[in-house]
Amino acid sequence: MNIEEALEFAKETARGAGEIQKNHFEKKGLAVEHKGRIDLVTEVDIACEELITEAVRENFPEHGILAEEGARRDSLKGYIWIIDPLDGTVNYAHGFPMFAVSIALYHKDEPILGVVYDPLRDELFAGVHGGGADMNGAPIRVTGVENLEDALIATGFPYDLKTNPRNNLANFNRVVLECQAVRRPGSAAIDLCYLACGRFDAFWEQRLFPWDMAAARIIVAEAGGKVTDMKGNALDIFGETICAANQVLHPKLLALLED
Ligand code: IPD
Ligand code: CA
Ligand code: CA
Repeated sequence: MNIEEALEFAKETARGAGEIQKNHFEKKGLAVEHKGRIDLVTEVDIACEELITEAVRENFPEHGILAEEGARRDSLKGYIWIIDPLDGTVNYAHGFPMFAVSIALYHKDEPILGVVYDPLRDELFAGVHGGGADMNGAPIRVTGVENLEDALIATGFPYDLKTNPRNNLANFNRVVLECQAVRRPGSAAIDLCYLACGRFDAFWEQRLFPWDMAAARIIVAEAGGKVTDMKGNALDIFGETICAANQVLHPKLLALLED
């Protein structure tokens, strides 16, 4: 397994899917289906997932695939590509310009590399285990903000927030009163990459799926950030919760969160 080649493959493939997203963005008549009351999937999610999974099959036929829209959901044995073909679908469907492609390579449950591509800004974030993180080739780093009152923090809410009390609203109420401001941009992958490059100081979310965080969590860690679950344990991408920040802010944010 050549990591450099796998990274180049992931970047090129993310750019290919990003091209599809860009070309269809703001086009009228986009086919949108409901997975849940407010959980959408568009024809662009499906087209991007097909492009990425086909590319993996061709280039790494022996590797597994775990992709959100269900093209394939292999178990975590050996090498596995974890794919969110379009993170920020609700934004996309509304023409709100905040969405990305997320592709990660894991070996069993250890992250090897992750890339997140925002096609509108042409920003490609990448992280390789032990090899640092960059945006469009320039190294990135988390901020040195030490106090919550100076921190700009991002979060998100689950699709079933109206019917499930585990909806992050109590956490939001606590954090918003302690920090400078909270944002809810609508793409967990971008939120984490913005933390990695210093645009946010911290991020947490309570009910994510593995593909939402698989790539970006390694980008944050390689940019010097601390990434755990909301109890402060090592992150498990199947464990739903995440708390990520620079090293100094992390325990301060964690102390405010309840799962
Ligand atoms: C969603 C986004 C959003 C987060 C949701 C995710 P999707 O992913 O990352 O920011 O709050 O929890 O499900 O559905 O757009 O791929
Ligand atoms: Ca997602
Ligand atoms: Ca998605």
